Amino acid sequence: MARAPAKVILVGEHWVVHGGRAVAAAIGLYAVAQCKAKPGDRVIVRSRELGVEEELDRCRDLCNLAAAWRHIAARHGFRGAVCELSSDIPPGAGLGSSAAVAAAFAAAYLCVASGGVLDRELVNRAAFEAEKITHGNPSGIDNTVSVYGGIVVYRRGREPRRVRASTAGSLLVVNTGIERSTRVAVEKFSARLASLPGSLAAEMIRLNDIAAGYAVRALREGDYGALGRVMNLSHGLLQSMGVSLAELDTIVELLRDMGVYGAKLSGAGLGGVVIAVAEENAAERIAEELRRRGYDAFRAVLPAPGVRVQTL
Ligand code: PMV
Repeated sequence: MARAPAKVILVGEHWVVHGGRAVAAAIGLYAVAQCKAKPGDRVIVRSRELGVEEELDRCRDLCNLAAAWRHIAARHGFRGAVCELSSDIPPGAGLGSSAAVAAAFAAAYLCVASGGVLDRELVNRAAFEAEKITHGNPSGIDNTVSVYGGIVVYRRGREPRRVRASTAGSLLVVNTGIERSTRVAVEKFSARLASLPGSLAAEMIRLNDIAAGYAVRALREGDYGALGRVMNLSHGLLQSMGVSLAELDTIVELLRDMGVYGAKLSGAGLGGVVIAVAEENAAERIAEELRRRGYDAFRAVLPAPGVRVQTL
């Protein structure tokens, strides 16, 4: 059995697709995969959330997982298995649910194929193959955070750097329930970026990089007030690129009025979640007040550990 966490992006989503820097953290919501070896070379996957059962070699809905499976099987041989998937991560919400499911599946299948050895690098590469099918042009941040856990500074093509936060942070997550496609949001942002005149796109990417640097410093110093201010700026940058929505902006403003340090959309935008950092006691009070007003709001402690396997 393998369990892989969801993630939030504290600063830098979208910019990271274009070579910029992002800071992301694993949070304690999980996708779980259980794989059992079976004779032959066929791999059957059942997804509880999607209500589908497929043989990966003839995939329809689970072709992302078929890509992960092929990547692992190319190294460890085509071993037969039956896998069950479940997840408590809301899909299409910006919390990296597809990457977490892929990471959990890849880790559980790898353990069946390799006789119990968890090679995180291989799991990460396999989950990235899955993400390419799901999103088209993923930066790799979602699978990396889900596999390694913690808080990570990520830039495409570079080794991810771990950030040691001096204190655990109290995070609020508010889900709009508006499901959207990461692929569509990435295309919209990319088109807007490409349409900027002269060197403006490069300058915007640089501005986000500077913000990400301040977010890292704030985390190291345990200065969640400063982190919140950087998150506010990050929301503004994303908004200017067309990936926010009135619903997201309303929640961001509401959270700020209620006294959080800072709030922003997280993930691809155009729906999904808003995240906020707040002082510990305020976070509980605000989450309760939001639920009373009918919002789907919950708290998450960051960071969570990465993918873990367990033999049942
Ligand atoms: O919304 P999510 O969980 O799919 O996150 C996407 C993050 C992006 O930066 C928008 C895309 C990417 O691949 O980095």
